[in-house]
Amino acid sequence: MAQVTITNIVKRYGTAQVVHGVNVDIADGEFVILVGPSGCGKSTLLRMIAGLEAISGGEISIGDRVVNDILPKDRDIAMVFQNYALYPHKNVADNMGFSLKIRGRPKAEIDAKVKKAAEILDLSKLLDRFPKQLSGGQRQRVAMGRAIVRDPQVFLFDEPLSNLDAKLRVAMRVEIKELHLRLGTTIVYVTHDQIEAMTMADKIVVMRDGKVEQIGAPLDLYDNPGNVFVAGFIGSPAMNFIKGKIESKEGRQIFVSDTGSVLPVEGGKAQDGQPVIYGIRPEHIDIAPDGLPAIVSVLEPTGSETQIFARLGEDAIDAVVKDRLTIHPGGEVRLRIDKRRVHIFDRQSGARV
Ligand SMILES: Nc1ncnc2c1ncn2[C@@H]1O[C@H](COP(=O)(O)OP(=O)(O)OP(=O)(O)O)[C@@H](O)[C@H]1O
Ligand SMILES: [Mg+2]
Repeated sequence: MAQVTITNIVKRYGTAQVVHGVNVDIADGEFVILVGPSGCGKSTLLRMIAGLEAISGGEISIGDRVVNDILPKDRDIAMVFQNYALYPHKNVADNMGFSLKIRGRPKAEIDAKVKKAAEILDLSKLLDRFPKQLSGGQRQRVAMGRAIVRDPQVFLFDEPLSNLDAKLRVAMRVEIKELHLRLGTTIVYVTHDQIEAMTMADKIVVMRDGKVEQIGAPLDLYDNPGNVFVAGFIGSPAMNFIKGKIESKEGRQIFVSDTGSVLPVEGGKAQDGQPVIYGIRPEHIDIAPDGLPAIVSVLEPTGSETQIFARLGEDAIDAVVKDRLTIHPGGEVRLRIDKRRVHIFDRQSGARV
């Protein structure tokens, strides 16, 4: 096991710079997830940790060793990719043991390691099967088995679940988390799925355009997003954003949207007249008789809850409530915003106020 330290990492392809000075400290045994929209540099950063991409600037160390100039095979890492192609003509045991075999490890050692990894991954009964005789989730576990047998200092995962259907993804999320608890190995995991990030990570690194936007524990990012981007990226359904400014009325601060809606805020955060973005998560709005009158556009019942798409004056607003509703589109609903859960961002910089 080992800590991973990423210091001022820069990546250029020719003249195009795609990673702009990234700093991340990953503790020994930590499960860190890199998230961000497509093209933000997640895979590039992971591949630099793995040694599959040259580093244009900065330093990466694994354990107490700077690895910039160390070959991938000598970095003591194991990587699982999105396209984890198994060898079709090798059975599960041989797929899992192959990397050890090409390193010339003795057969007894390979067998023991494969057996142990198979137990951990619940593959013991499938060792003689061929990839085409396995389900998607079982194949995914074999791909992880290949990484586990190497007993690396660090696991690197690049969107390992994105080829699986929704139900299997949920199951594999739990399995990967259990695997981490059991092995305690440092994991750096890339995904663009913020739910995966929220549910598995000890620490999330939110990236955009080759830069780190914020680093924190999942619920920290959810509760205290540092800017509009992180606020909009973390949480599902996404936070509502309404543009407007803060004003004072009868000694109390209120938010007035550009289109004239008045919404509640806790005083003292922003200055009167300051142009801001008002953020409220759909789950922090409920239905109450003293709520603000809104007009329902669409209702989406999921069984356990109802997502309400509504208009508050001219502003679109979504709410998620536990109630089952029978309002028709065009009907009125009274939405109460929990003002303690309101986030205010500066309109110019996007930073949290
Ligand atoms: N070999 C390359 N040559 C030039 N540009 C590249 C190369 N590989 C990646 N890029 C660019 O670097 C940027 C980061 O790519 P990267 O693959 O790291 O994104 P990502 O965050 O993993 O995205 P995704 O979620 O789509 O996998 C992108 O703009 C991409 O076009
Ligand atoms: Mg990628």
